[in-house]
Amino acid sequence: MSSNLNGPQVLLCVNGGIAAYKAVEVLRLLQKADCKVRVASTEDGLRFVGAATWEGLTHQSVASSLYGWTESAIPHIMLSEWADVVLVCPATANTMAKMAAGIADDLVSTTLLAVPRTTPVVVAPAMNVNMWQAAPTQVNVRTLRERGVRFVMPVEGRLACDAVGEGKLASVDQIARAVLDAAGSRASSRTMAGRSVVVTAGPTHEAIDPVRYIANASSGKMGYAIAAEAARRGARTVLVSGPTALEAPVGVERVDVVSAAQMHEATLRAFEGADVAICAAAVADYTPAHPADHKLKKAHEHLDTIELKETKDILAELGRRKSQDGRARVVVGFAAETNDLVANAQAKLERKGCDLVVANDVTRSDSGFGSATNHVTLVSAAGIRELPTLAKEEVAVHLLDEVERLLKRG
Ligand code: CTP
Repeated sequence: MSSNLNGPQVLLCVNGGIAAYKAVEVLRLLQKADCKVRVASTEDGLRFVGAATWEGLTHQSVASSLYGWTESAIPHIMLSEWADVVLVCPATANTMAKMAAGIADDLVSTTLLAVPRTTPVVVAPAMNVNMWQAAPTQVNVRTLRERGVRFVMPVEGRLACDAVGEGKLASVDQIARAVLDAAGSRASSRTMAGRSVVVTAGPTHEAIDPVRYIANASSGKMGYAIAAEAARRGARTVLVSGPTALEAPVGVERVDVVSAAQMHEATLRAFEGADVAICAAAVADYTPAHPADHKLKKAHEHLDTIELKETKDILAELGRRKSQDGRARVVVGFAAETNDLVANAQAKLERKGCDLVVANDVTRSDSGFGSATNHVTLVSAAGIRELPTLAKEEVAVHLLDEVERLLKRG
């Protein structure tokens, strides 16, 4: 089994079954291959292999309940985002049924539901032959496979119940290998370790008076997905975020701002030591020229016209500063367009001094503000690449692959 110093982070989800003791061996093999492994177990799983074993081997506390875990108040989100690969071993018929149906009623099933779509999940089932061959189990396996879940299928042999048949956990070596293959098949290794990335996200709020502001419909999802992916690749990641309803991704340093002016200041500061800046925020282009320091009264004051002034263009400023100290930096901008997508994006690339523009056709229903998916075209000096409609997390993967290529080119 190959060894690699920046090995993947594997979340091992243990279910209640006699084969749980073999998961201990799988864990050891993964550790030998330089994986960092954390364990989440169902309550039943802990009856077969206790917390002391897992904690002794991982030097980390085992998560088994949604409540009262010392390491995080929201363990299912923390664990699902931390993992580069998730392994369910042994997987019971019950857990697979919950995965297929989207049931989240304990820590393990809730964590599995929260796993980002781009994170590979490997399932190694083990159970009695009749339970394995039962129609609901087979339907669930098929459903999960169709959704991209990887299976290390059980084999024939003498089962714990003394029956002979299919249902015995696959070999520990095969399971560990499947996890390493899954890890190798995505950009899960720390390919951006040592790099520093700044991402802007969300809308900005421009005050008219203390209770009114001008804003836009940006949800922040795209920028947050980029920050999460950069952190997953090992980059030191600063997320300068306007007001959103989103949780900061694991491993990301979030700087909260409200206005375009605050975003400008915070982003320029973070850019000083950075290698990459990705401006995904929908920054207001205009802000009230004279925000009132008291709530404007409609009976006495003019609310029918608001004088606006232009905000500073953060992206253009980063474009100007990117090669100031001789350091090769990559600056990425977004372009929300309704027409002449590529031509407008190419003009923006030039005008703002960026290395890459992510052009977004906001007239499409599967793209843009608030949508879970995006349909973008990557425009750089090297050419144009249209991506299919993808989840924003998947767009982030393609985008950072491109950023890494640009970084290598220097
Ligand atoms: N942007 C920025 N600071 C601003 C305005 C925009 O950093 N004050 C960044 C956005 O984060 C995004 C890109 O610039 O990466 C989008 O530019 P956009 O506002 O669409 O382009 P404009 O130059 O304003 O051109 P137009 O509105 O005519 O398309």
